[in-house]
Amino acid sequence: MTLARLLAAAFLAAAFPLTALPITAQAADAARGATLAAQNCANCHGANGRSQVPGVPSLAGQPADFITVQMILLREGIRQAPAMNPFAQGVPDRDIEDLAAFFASLPPGPPDDRAPRDEALFAAGQALTGPRHCATCHVADYGGRAQIPRVAAQREEYLVHAMTEYRDGRRSGVDTQMNSAVIGLSNAHIAALAHFLAHLD
Ligand code: HEC
Ligand code: HEC
Repeated sequence: MTLARLLAAAFLAAAFPLTALPITAQAADAARGATLAAQNCANCHGANGRSQVPGVPSLAGQPADFITVQMILLREGIRQAPAMNPFAQGVPDRDIEDLAAFFASLPPGPPDDRAPRDEALFAAGQALTGPRHCATCHVADYGGRAQIPRVAAQREEYLVHAMTEYRDGRRSGVDTQMNSAVIGLSNAHIAALAHFLAHLD
């Protein structure tokens, strides 16, 4: 698939969030993706796709379309993340699709160092999700769909980082849906939301 076609598909899916992306010309090869990941990604994102490194997100069980779109945004410098941009630079579309198929096939789960659940903070985070319609896009179990990421059991400090970047206008996706979703949240709200999501299984 060409970049132009992928971005067109991503924009289409952004306009119709619950419509699957109209993919794909050539089937992705998850086994080839596994080899590429072991060489280039596992050190940070974890051999099983569950990151044990603070600040690095887990990729296991992410929808393949989300990984593909993010890799292209990172490769083209549209998403700025200095720790990650160098590893996306120059990666061909085919490699990206195979890597995405591999990570999407891995069973998701929390990192080994997940902190215990704080019931009050968890409840405070959960209470914020209804008015902001988080589950409408991220799906009831927060497993994501198409270009919308899995956020359940993601690393807590990464979730704080991601939501803060959207709120402060330092990150947007192919559109500004997430910026609207977190507008006006305090740091304490973001911490509660992150704690809630990080403790979903
Ligand atoms: C040196 C560590 C490192 C390596 C190696 C690395 N990454 Fe990353 N990656 C990161 C960090 C840190 C982030 C979070 C960037 C941010 O701050 O938003 C990230 C983010 C991502 C994201 C976005 C995920 C999300 O939830 O938004 C994807 C997709 C990704 N990396 C894929 C890969 C792939 C595929 C490889 C191998 C080709 C790779 N990364 C190699 C550190 C790394
Ligand atoms: C209108 C649909 C929509 C709503 C509502 C929404 N999201 Fe999102 N969310 C998205 C999309 C699409 C992305 C990916 C955007 C991008 O490309 O950066 C995303 C990304 C994220 C990320 C970044 C994950 C990662 O791995 O980088 C987090 C965290 C997140 N959403 C949490 C939430 C929370 C919490 C709420 C409710 C307060 C929420 N979202 C509401 C669509 C939505």
